[in-house]
Amino acid sequence: MEKKWWHDKVAYQIYPKSFKDSNGDGIGDLRGIIEKLDYLKELGADILWLCPIYKSPFVDQGYDISDYYKIDESFGSMEDFDELLAETKKRDMYVIMDLVINHCSDQHEWFQKALKDPEGEFGDYFYFRKGKDGNPPSNYRSYFGGSAWEKVAGSDYYYLHMFAKQQPDLNWNNEKLMRELYTMVNWWLEKGLAGFRIDAIMNVKKDMEFKDLEPDGEDGLGEVWRMLETVDGVGEMLEDLKRNTFEKYQAFTVAEVSTMKKDELSDFIGDNGHFGTMFDFSATVLGNGEHGWYDSKPIQFDDFRRVLYRSQLACQDVGFLANIIENHDSPRGVNRFLPEYARNDAGIKMLGTVSVLLRGIPFLYQGQEIGMQNCQRDSIEEYDDISTIQEYHKALEAGFEPKEALAVCGQISRDNARTPMQWDDGENAGFTRGTPWLKTNPNYRRINVKEQMEREDSVLNYYKRLLALRKSDLYREVFTYGRFAPLFEMEEKIFAYERRLENTAVRVIANFSCVEKTLPVDYLSGDQVLLNNLEEIWVQERSITLRPFQVVVVRS
Ligand code: NOJ
Ligand code: CA
Repeated sequence: MEKKWWHDKVAYQIYPKSFKDSNGDGIGDLRGIIEKLDYLKELGADILWLCPIYKSPFVDQGYDISDYYKIDESFGSMEDFDELLAETKKRDMYVIMDLVINHCSDQHEWFQKALKDPEGEFGDYFYFRKGKDGNPPSNYRSYFGGSAWEKVAGSDYYYLHMFAKQQPDLNWNNEKLMRELYTMVNWWLEKGLAGFRIDAIMNVKKDMEFKDLEPDGEDGLGEVWRMLETVDGVGEMLEDLKRNTFEKYQAFTVAEVSTMKKDELSDFIGDNGHFGTMFDFSATVLGNGEHGWYDSKPIQFDDFRRVLYRSQLACQDVGFLANIIENHDSPRGVNRFLPEYARNDAGIKMLGTVSVLLRGIPFLYQGQEIGMQNCQRDSIEEYDDISTIQEYHKALEAGFEPKEALAVCGQISRDNARTPMQWDDGENAGFTRGTPWLKTNPNYRRINVKEQMEREDSVLNYYKRLLALRKSDLYREVFTYGRFAPLFEMEEKIFAYERRLENTAVRVIANFSCVEKTLPVDYLSGDQVLLNNLEEIWVQERSITLRPFQVVVVRS
């Protein structure tokens, strides 16, 4: 496997709106990020992924871009951005941004021009089609609910939006548009960006006949992503993108890939793949409801372990996956992957350890390093996320009481991860001196960076040790390139694996159960223990006993 500059890096996802507000307007900003660079460096982050900071009406929190060349004023200016780049460089850190080019905002100048003349030059930047017998061109249901076609007032045309109606899809068959997009991508790379996180990319290739789907609900619509399964050829589009942009800059790219077909892994993340890496969502999608959030199920440990082992084994001869326990689209990993009895410091450290030491690129999400958790709300008014509001109403329509529907949001809402970062126990968690755009999680008095910095055995200090171990001179290679092999697969509630590179082998052994477990592990001397989330380790001659939620990292 060809070595790349980013293989041994640790990435950290910043949700700028909620990270740190420097000017008291309640919205996190670039100067706030600059203030916290030393904190991130000390934690062990190398690559910072910034969620969208481009100019946007924020219908979908910046995933609706109205100008790809501008920084949204709420985040600061281009000078602030340049300063952020310079400051990260000084610290040997890298910045990647979101690349949202499946769709743009309906406020983008291209779309505004297209609306005026759907048959004109800019009309072809999008998908405008005439309706059928007074109905939309097809029965697609958008990701955010309702038809994926929006009627243009005063005309027979509809336009396609796979997400919200304010996010019209861009037509990747239009060569002029593609040149515009490539120029824009290169413009950012020229500025010194290290790469991109690539949004919703599998949606770019459509069935140009826009055939109806088998309805899968009472609304007579079918989920639009089913259309993606019926088309081939997205790879050619992705190769073209890569050749015209990323490849020339050795950029790091991490893709959000939802509907990959079987046996395509090497096309995506092999040595010459379309992308550097892509997220492993195999655990994040577990428990997803069939009809909506309201019928989602709690994740079972066995499934969690099975899918992660499977993707680890599938990718190790091919390339690198990006490993996460949470992101801005999901609830907090602590609430999702740990049973209630394990949502304590030990359990949180254990979950972090098994995830960070997997083979692949670890992506931490802001607040994960202090064990931030989901946030219950008293009213739907307290949510901002477009998808939460839609899912809330879906739950009501399915017969849930408002209280029950709110409880569903408390578990699944994307706003769970979007609450302000908890810096200290002062007002608004030290995130802002104004009124935060989204209410802070009230648990910030207990869970915050300041308290954890001062406490030696905190989750934060543990994460620092964990990342330092992963990047240490002695173990960096094995954690980067070492093979993955599951251990103790027949043991209930044990998540364990070996990473091995030539003569170096390291074992990660975690007890997710609430009882002690004794496992056959050859004699251990103290100096073989590289990391332990509890104070002690209980070893016998040929075995080791793990307390509930204990994780140890040992070398052979
Ligand atoms: C995936 C992003 O992560 C999510 O936040 C967004 O709503 C959709 N793509 C649409 O851009
Ligand atoms: Ca601000």
